[in-house]
Amino acid sequence: MLLGVNVDHVATLRQARYRTMLDSPNAEPSPFDAAMDAKAGGADSITLHVRGDRRHVQEDDAFLVREECPLPLNFEMGNTLELLKIALRLKPDFVCLVPETREEVSTEGGLDVVSHAESLKPTIEALHNEGVKVSLFIDPVIEQVNASHSLKAEMIELHTGCFANAFGEERKHEVTRLQKASELGHSLGIQVNAGHGLNYDNLEELFTVSHLVELNIGHSIVARALRVGMTQAVKEMRALMSNYSG
Ligand code: PXP
Repeated sequence: MLLGVNVDHVATLRQARYRTMLDSPNAEPSPFDAAMDAKAGGADSITLHVRGDRRHVQEDDAFLVREECPLPLNFEMGNTLELLKIALRLKPDFVCLVPETREEVSTEGGLDVVSHAESLKPTIEALHNEGVKVSLFIDPVIEQVNASHSLKAEMIELHTGCFANAFGEERKHEVTRLQKASELGHSLGIQVNAGHGLNYDNLEELFTVSHLVELNIGHSIVARALRVGMTQAVKEMRALMSNYSG
């Protein structure tokens, strides 16, 4: 099982006071340094989300990580022409298309691929033409998995936010939804990833879901890094992930 580390919230802390390192030599902390520390801890890829409102990661961060960090880059973006143009210049290894609204605190629901198939199609084609693989961040819903397959996405990332926020019987229900979506994605030949709200406590319950290839985790790793450092925080997550049998 692979671990993609999302370093957006390192930029969130920087943006609380500064802009990018290119604007001010005082600007800290650095998402790039965090990416390199995550690599030292065993991260398999780095995820960055340049949002339309640029509330955390800036374009400069994405280009610096792309150019200087040897790990694969997973670039998260909303489906807008502005972000597509950036992605085509950046040429990340993967693009994960996510829904984006200005008011949300973080990505709050999966992309509605069924309703937005027409607008997603040209974006996915443009990325494929540049050799960029595409992941669609979707809720664990059968119709969304089928629609992602129809659009020729190589990957889906199952939204685990509901799973993370549910407890007891409700969480079991969420695990069942994830399992059904994962089984379908796998049977269709799509790589199945998962992310959002995953932490050091809830991974074990997620591990009853089969066929998961990669987890994308940000908030809990960055939070843990404040106490033990990024490299150690990633090592600890990796250690938990070694319990996954697939
Ligand atoms: N995957 C996607 C598509 C996301 O938008 C996010 C949040 O930015 C994550 C994973 C990581 O979520 P978290 O920060 O809760 O670990």
